[in-house]
Amino acid sequence: MEDCKLCMLVTFFLIITKMVATGKYIPTTLEGPFDPVTIRFDPSLRQGSDDIPMDDPRLKKNVTSMFPEQIALALSTPTSMWVSWVTGDAQIGSNVTALDPTSVASEVWYGKESGKYTNKKTGNATVYSQLYLFEGLLNYTSGIIHHVRIDGLEPGTKYYYKCGDSSLPAMSDEHVFETLLLPGPNSYPRRIALIGDLGLTSNSSTTIDHLTRNDPSLILMVGDLTYANQYLTTGGKGVPCFSCAFPDAPIRETYQPRWDGWGRFMKPLISRVPMMVIEGNHEIEPQVAGITFKSYLTRFAVPAEESGSNTNFYYSFDAGGVHVIMLGAYVDYNSTGAQYAWLKEDLHKVDRMVTPWLVAAMHPPWYNSYSSHYQEFECMRLEMEELLYQYGVDIIFSGHVHAYERMNRVYNYTLHACGPVYITVGDGGNIEKVDVDHADDPGKCPSEGHNIPEFGGVCHLNFSSGPAKGKFCWDRQPEWSAFRESSFGHGILEVLNSTYALWTWHRNQDIYKEESSGDQLYIVRQPELCSPSTSLKVIFHFNIRELLFNSLFYFSCGKRIEVSLKRDPMRLSKERKQKKVQRYLQNGRGFCHCSS
Ligand SMILES: *[C@@H]1O[C@H](CO)[C@@H](O)[C@H](O)[C@H]1NC(C)=O
Ligand SMILES: *[C@@H]1O[C@H](CO)[C@@H](O)[C@H](O)[C@H]1NC(C)=O
Ligand SMILES: *[C@@H]1O[C@H](CO)[C@@H](O)[C@H](O)[C@H]1NC(C)=O
Ligand SMILES: *[C@@H]1O[C@H](CO)[C@@H](O)[C@H](O)[C@H]1NC(C)=O
Ligand SMILES: *[C@@H]1O[C@H](CO)[C@@H](O)[C@H](O)[C@H]1NC(C)=O
Ligand SMILES: *[C@@H]1O[C@H](CO)[C@@H](O)[C@H](O)[C@H]1NC(C)=O
Ligand SMILES: *[C@@H]1O[C@H](CO)[C@@H](O)[C@H](O)[C@H]1NC(C)=O
Ligand SMILES: *[C@@H]1O[C@H](CO)[C@@H](O)[C@H](O)[C@H]1NC(C)=O
Ligand SMILES: *[C@@H]1O[C@H](CO)[C@@H](O)[C@H](O)[C@H]1NC(C)=O
Ligand SMILES: [Fe+2]
Repeated sequence: MEDCKLCMLVTFFLIITKMVATGKYIPTTLEGPFDPVTIRFDPSLRQGSDDIPMDDPRLKKNVTSMFPEQIALALSTPTSMWVSWVTGDAQIGSNVTALDPTSVASEVWYGKESGKYTNKKTGNATVYSQLYLFEGLLNYTSGIIHHVRIDGLEPGTKYYYKCGDSSLPAMSDEHVFETLLLPGPNSYPRRIALIGDLGLTSNSSTTIDHLTRNDPSLILMVGDLTYANQYLTTGGKGVPCFSCAFPDAPIRETYQPRWDGWGRFMKPLISRVPMMVIEGNHEIEPQVAGITFKSYLTRFAVPAEESGSNTNFYYSFDAGGVHVIMLGAYVDYNSTGAQYAWLKEDLHKVDRMVTPWLVAAMHPPWYNSYSSHYQEFECMRLEMEELLYQYGVDIIFSGHVHAYERMNRVYNYTLHACGPVYITVGDGGNIEKVDVDHADDPGKCPSEGHNIPEFGGVCHLNFSSGPAKGKFCWDRQPEWSAFRESSFGHGILEVLNSTYALWTWHRNQDIYKEESSGDQLYIVRQPELCSPSTSLKVIFHFNIRELLFNSLFYFSCGKRIEVSLKRDPMRLSKERKQKKVQRYLQNGRGFCHCSS
């Protein structure tokens, strides 16, 4: 009977493969693991594009001094929202003087009807400076940055709002947003957009243009936002090469007005759709006195306090029935540290009956087969992967690598039916161009000393089993990498119900709403198989292809593990079969997951 089940599985598998080939059918993760697919960079495209200049109308300040600009939204709790904006003039040069943040009030007026603001909230304002001690580098001090938390919001409701200081008077035009639904197993955001490593080039502009037309209800921005530290006019002098112009400068200057330009560029989108950010390495931005991350920490309001985190470097929130955890890769992630303790507590508090979906995001990927940043954050994976796996995290998004890659379900570098789906979307279009080399391409395996993280240790490791056993790089696309393509784009996650979500990756070179997508599949949760359930279950998971190859078949039933071989000429005893499976597991080719 078991053999018969297997036959059916194989037949199903073959049918699916055919349907995928004909191009209409949308596969599901249930059919995984998929054979690895690589799409190389299309040489008819340019690998990158120039930065949008500061005098572009989309980047220039349009309002007079104390009127709000760079208006942005971020989720707080399911019934509250952060509204942020900037007033006053930033300064760059020598002898900059910080503005007084108490000189302008922070008010938001809002209500359910256009022009009728039944509620009013006030908040706080602050400024920050980016200072350098080196001759020729320019100091910067920001405009006044306002953050106001508005609350008492009803779910799935449109709110009209204005922000500013009514006493000056200097209030903004009216803006509108729609709240998400309350957490619940049947209420999901219409579309969650994913972007990473965006920058501010004409490619970034295409990405945002396409993303906007996809009409998301929430945006997750997985780090490396503006590339203010790569802007060509670094040094304020239009120098194309910073290290050539300032060979002795102890710190690389960042061009902070780029953040203001980016805030203006993003405003049409993020003043009506909340955007959730997490820090990337381009946000580090070192300055005098060892200060880092000043712009990231000051400009963005995030639900840190709301989620029990005491820092904007990591936090979590609910978006309907999706609990999202934003992890900090550039702050202590060790299992002995504060972030890990917070993460454990946060995971523990998640009620999967209320938020069935558990999504995590961080800037650098743990699973990545491109040469760029290959195994760069192995230390973080070693510290945190097990915890995320134990709590059954469904999807883990990252950026950092400037290309697209979707992994087969994987845990500890082993294909695993209950591992998370990892997706890299660092393909926003920044100035550093598309990543095109794979670690498995001849001559492209990064050498030791490469891919050193900007934070944390180096834990590069050689694989202990499989085709790359004993080696640092594979000689082909690794089995855990399902699909990779060197193109710019963005992703859209549409959660349909408590077990199905449609993931679509849109490429910049495709015309919007053309019937094409770069990558599309249903991500399917299997809570009965994978959740830490109450009844004791022992489940074996194997790479299906290996399984067939070895004619080994598994099934689980309650507490007993039964293993049979499809072809069993030796007529092995049950004990021998179990031993064989044990060995199979010890070789690291399968995985045993026990939950109680
Ligand atoms: C980036 O944008 C430029 C100019 O718009 C275009 O020529 C190029 O092909 C784009 N590159 C990619 C990878 O999309
Ligand atoms: C400034 O106004 C012009 C004309 O209305 C518009 O095209 C541009 O996008 C605006 N820029 C900003 C930063 O709001
Ligand atoms: C920048 O600020 C630092 C610290 O206040 C100061 O020492 C330095 O002289 C300033 N540089 C310029 C160019 O004004
Ligand atoms: C620096 O700016 C302040 C305030 O604008 C001014 O009082 C002071 O004289 C300036 N100092 C120099 C050296 O320019
Ligand atoms: C504003 O700052 C005060 C004091 O730092 C703090 O108690 C309050 O919670 C802040 N309000 C908001 C809306 O952040
Ligand atoms: C994390 O742990 C490693 C190994 O124990 C240690 O070398 C490193 O300093 C720790 N990092 C932090 C930020 O505590
Ligand atoms: C992950 O795999 C490595 C190498 O096979 C093994 O040493 C380690 O114990 C595994 N870790 C976990 C958490 O299973
Ligand atoms: C990993 O394998 C490489 C060869 O691919 C070898 O040079 C290196 O020493 C190995 N490293 C470890 C830690 O075993
Ligand atoms: C979720 O949606 C899928 C696809 O429409 C459907 O097959 C499945 O039965 C649904 N599951 C639940 C729990 O509603
Ligand atoms: Fe990065």
